[in-house]
Amino acid sequence: MSTMRKGSALLALLLLAARPVFCVEFDLTADGMRDIDDTTKSLNSNLATKNSKNALGEAQEIAAFFLQVQGYYEAKGNAQDAVDYARKSHELAGQIAKSVAANDLDAAAATVSSLTRICKSCHNAYKTD
Ligand code: HEC
Repeated sequence: MSTMRKGSALLALLLLAARPVFCVEFDLTADGMRDIDDTTKSLNSNLATKNSKNALGEAQEIAAFFLQVQGYYEAKGNAQDAVDYARKSHELAGQIAKSVAANDLDAAAATVSSLTRICKSCHNAYKTD
């Protein structure tokens, strides 16, 4: 292999390796929202049946999702209410995770109710059907 071919092979390899870094950007989609809807429902039933292990994972998943939603609206701009709703959702999900970890499942369930109110507020303002 010539030096030049080696060079371009190496470049191709570097570009391939770098790709995932450029693909981490988050897009708010109906699919993603449907997934988080399922996760929230499952979280509710796991709290009711006292399955703390699954409930904790779900609360953490919801918290991570809304951190990304927050970043999405920050990048989009001109959507301060959506940024605030997403931040609040992230915080409430984190609070749910803490309550589950502290084995206070009643507090966790109450916070899920607050969270679902934020879902509705954001939909009223930002979801167009
Ligand atoms: C920061 C704003 C915001 C928050 C908070 C939010 N959503 Fe959404 N949601 C949206 C937007 C915008 C759409 C429309 C997405 C689209 O159709 O592309 C949507 C769509 C949906 C849909 C409909 C998907 C479909 O089938 O078209 C569901 C279900 C949903 N969200 C569930 C939830 C749940 C559950 C929560 C709270 C745990 C939540 N959302 C919180 C903005 C938000």
